[in-house]
Amino acid sequence: MSTKQFKRYLITSALPYANGPVHIGHLAGVYVPSDIYARYQRLKGNEVISVCGSDEHGVPITIKARKEGVTPQDIVDRYHEIIKDAFKRLGMSFDIYSRTSSETHRKTASDFFRKLYDEGKFIEQTSMQFYDDEAQTFLADRYVMGTCPKCGNERAYGDQCESCGSTLSPDELINPHSTISGGAISKRETKHWYLPLDQYDPMLREWILEGHKEWKPNVYGQCKSWLDSGLQPRAVSRDLDWGIPVPVEGAEGKVLYVWFDAPIGYISATKDLTPDWEKYWKSEDTKLVHFIGKDNIVFHCIVFPSMLKAHGEYILPENVPANEFLNLEGDKISTSRNWAVWLHEYLDEFPGKEDVLRYVLCANAPETKDNDFTWKDYQARNNNELVAVLGNFVNRALVLTQKYYDSAVPALGELTEYDQQTIAELSGIKSSLESNIENYHFREALKDAMNFARIGNKYLADTEPWKVIRSDPERVKTILNVALQITANVAVAIEPFMPFSSEKILKMLNISKLNWESLGSMSLLEAGHQIGKPELLFEKIEDDVIDAQLKRLADIKAQNAAAEAAQNVTAQKEECSYDDFQKMDIRVSTILAAEKVAKTKKLLKLTVDTGIDKRTIVSGIAEHFTPEELVGRQVLVLVNLAPRELKGITSNGMILMAEDASGKLELLAPEHKTNNGAIVG
Ligand code: MF3
Ligand code: ZN
Repeated sequence: MSTKQFKRYLITSALPYANGPVHIGHLAGVYVPSDIYARYQRLKGNEVISVCGSDEHGVPITIKARKEGVTPQDIVDRYHEIIKDAFKRLGMSFDIYSRTSSETHRKTASDFFRKLYDEGKFIEQTSMQFYDDEAQTFLADRYVMGTCPKCGNERAYGDQCESCGSTLSPDELINPHSTISGGAISKRETKHWYLPLDQYDPMLREWILEGHKEWKPNVYGQCKSWLDSGLQPRAVSRDLDWGIPVPVEGAEGKVLYVWFDAPIGYISATKDLTPDWEKYWKSEDTKLVHFIGKDNIVFHCIVFPSMLKAHGEYILPENVPANEFLNLEGDKISTSRNWAVWLHEYLDEFPGKEDVLRYVLCANAPETKDNDFTWKDYQARNNNELVAVLGNFVNRALVLTQKYYDSAVPALGELTEYDQQTIAELSGIKSSLESNIENYHFREALKDAMNFARIGNKYLADTEPWKVIRSDPERVKTILNVALQITANVAVAIEPFMPFSSEKILKMLNISKLNWESLGSMSLLEAGHQIGKPELLFEKIEDDVIDAQLKRLADIKAQNAAAEAAQNVTAQKEECSYDDFQKMDIRVSTILAAEKVAKTKKLLKLTVDTGIDKRTIVSGIAEHFTPEELVGRQVLVLVNLAPRELKGITSNGMILMAEDASGKLELLAPEHKTNNGAIVG
């Protein structure tokens, strides 16, 4: 593991796609950890910048725009504002939240491409790509739809089947067609630029596999498997009308691939922040850390570093602490199925509970494996940890000081052995907390931070100042001095995780911001210092609040199921008149006998009592029902259908059935036993 000393930190957080709002999965995976890290480094007095912004290019944005009948710019303008505002309200401490549709970014990405192009770092290659003749445009994989070869879903995309989860290429689809015009597609030749990743293989192997064995196992493992399976040249341009134009002649209608321009967005954001941006990007003294989710690993560990190397002037990341995914109530979070807790909605519904969300998401962060967010866990952590431990301790220390000393900090007397033990314990936790954050173990770090409050709570429970006040009032002064010092420590320890609560504690203690070095100190509050009014830090969350959230999710589940079922409905037939309908004579009948028709798979010969007569009907249902299960059942029969000859048997009517688009069959029958011959209509 590298023990290199750095002069400054450059922290990046994956640029969220501006095609939808941010949800708890994004937060737990990327933004909460990155903010903890950035805040911690700032508290330590390090030189830090934390950059982020909206990722505003790419096909999903153009698809959404087309669906809504607006421009891609409209879409990104809308979501950029929603995301930016929600991050701010959650207390995300980005030094800049930029966007990739900005002029700075266009120029930065364009120049980057041009430099690589001029230096011959790309390969040019033509290939055959799907083309929509009617709309006269090349089709990105997502714009091709067809039947999934694996599961038969008729609405699979050219890159993925959302029904069975298979990764696909458009070539594999059965009956591929364009989602733009709906029509047939052909293939045309098109030219693109490729970054020959294979040429960077030795550099990547040495840098990652030899040089960064300390990376998280999930990250290191993914890199190794990519490298071991052999890197291929990757196209960095696309035929699309939304994105940064490829800045070379003869590239009309072509834009930079979104995964080429987006990571350069980190550089443009830094430029937007400070004219001194090169100091961050071009100096070996900078520690560059990318916070991302696991689906971004290859781009941040393989592709972007190869781009940076090809360019030649930039540093590479020192670490890429990618997280796994967060599920919601046992199901994969999904924007298209609205299965998510959206940050902006949470903030509206739970004002003042920003830190509760930050706490729960960090405590539950999917650091080593996928994890589940449940509202019951949210409630339990709030009530049993934030209210019962953190809030309770701070409140007791402040209320007792108010009660006994009129809110003036009492003087510290002689420390008992137990006092000294408690104080020593705090220093131990401090170093564990530090090393956990430095090593990106934020869940453990949060436990350490909470342990400051836990120890404080235990200290008060063990020393019992409310009893001792009667027998030894001098001793209580020391106890409460220690308790208040611990309270100030708590404010420091929790700041990276819960900045709003940290600030509230400081305000109640009537002191200004502390730095990390004060952690562990017992002289943060002077004797005689007047503290402010105690307020509750957290409040209990009742069952009805949680039930309302669970109900909302249950409703969404039901809506999704209904929408899915609706997709399995065949379109309505053309109009028919009342007279047309009246011509049909449908009667309740009972099946008296049933047997297979020899040498056929599908046909059954039925004898039915129609009330009018007993007759023979041949029906193609042998694959769905056995003769035994049919005998004795009442069914509906169209009795005046013209007779038909089937395998030499005359069929006098038709058994009515319901069949859905998937081919599922149900017999129709009166709900209660009815006389044979009863008329249906
Ligand atoms: N928009 C991408 C996503 O949400 C992340 C882009 S990260 C960047 O998965 F590096 F490309 F900016
Ligand atoms: Zn499928």
